[in-house]
Amino acid sequence: MQQIAKIYQAPLQGFTDFGFRKVLAESFGGIDKFFIPYISYGKGHEIKRSQLREVFPENNQSLPVVAQVLFSDGTELTELVSILKDYGYDEINLNLGCPYPMVTNKGRGAALLEKPEALLEALQQLYSKNYQVRFSVKMRAGMTNDRDAEAVFEVLNQFPLEEVIFHPRTADQMYDGHANPQLFANAVSLVKHPLVYNGDIVSVAGFQELQAILPAQNSWMIGRGLLANPALGAQLKGDVFNPNELREKLRDFHDRIFDNYSSRLDGSGHVLMKMNQFWTYFCQSFSNPHKAMKLVKKSTSLHKYNAAVAEIFRSF
Ligand SMILES: Cc1cc2nc3c(=O)[nH]c(=O)nc-3n(C[C@H](O)[C@H](O)[C@H](O)COP(=O)(O)O)c2cc1C
Repeated sequence: MQQIAKIYQAPLQGFTDFGFRKVLAESFGGIDKFFIPYISYGKGHEIKRSQLREVFPENNQSLPVVAQVLFSDGTELTELVSILKDYGYDEINLNLGCPYPMVTNKGRGAALLEKPEALLEALQQLYSKNYQVRFSVKMRAGMTNDRDAEAVFEVLNQFPLEEVIFHPRTADQMYDGHANPQLFANAVSLVKHPLVYNGDIVSVAGFQELQAILPAQNSWMIGRGLLANPALGAQLKGDVFNPNELREKLRDFHDRIFDNYSSRLDGSGHVLMKMNQFWTYFCQSFSNPHKAMKLVKKSTSLHKYNAAVAEIFRSF
């Protein structure tokens, strides 16, 4: 018999913030671990306040959270890990997947997939510190070549790791095309650590197709699919909602997200901006996502926004 799947919430900078994590856990559940978007050094060796706020312990109370670091070498890596350790994190994820040129030009994220020697050095420096912390890795298949991962796996196999989350796309694909389950299947025999599948899980039916391709796989990470349908984690664990019930729960989820932003953001402009961002994926829960998004975008005041949301939940 197949075990109950483990479902992780992927980190999406700007989207899966601490309010989202809390509301998702309270409204639908179904998530075994919440991965916090990365912290990294910005200008002047400073970490942005918006990134630090995400890892503050008071913003992540009673949730199973994993923090993440984005780094270019052993010095950045150990400094960032020390900061997270001081905040009390006992599991930290290393980002080897971020594809954006602004990041990879600095030798961070997916850039390290092309530099296994540099990665080896960074990890040697990390493990020499003997932090009492569990580490995991989140990676893509390569920068431009989907075989970059093979040399990286050899490096990762030399260290103890909690798990390796593998998103089988190259960085130059960004989010285009499809994640390639075959690349993941190949990785299974090359990686000695538990592997977690990440990429394009957006529905129960699509998930079942993936399970048929990877029957032994038990841990899965979902990003955009949970933003579009926050019920997905619970549904993959076996919860069944009839359409009316789901609609009511989505409305409640939306309202809690809205209340969360309203209570901590300054001014309706900021709240509307965050809700616009939220709807870029959430609109996919409705039969006409394009029209729903248009209504939200047109809302120039909270009053208009509330009317637009009522209209979407009533008729879309
Ligand atoms: C806007 C955006 C921000 C992201 N931020 C992060 C991040 O901070 N750390 C990370 O490891 N991945 C980040 N990702 C990648 C996602 O975690 C995930 O690997 C990717 O979206 C593929 O999974 P999905 O198809 O389930 O969304 C981001 C992706 C997007 C679209």
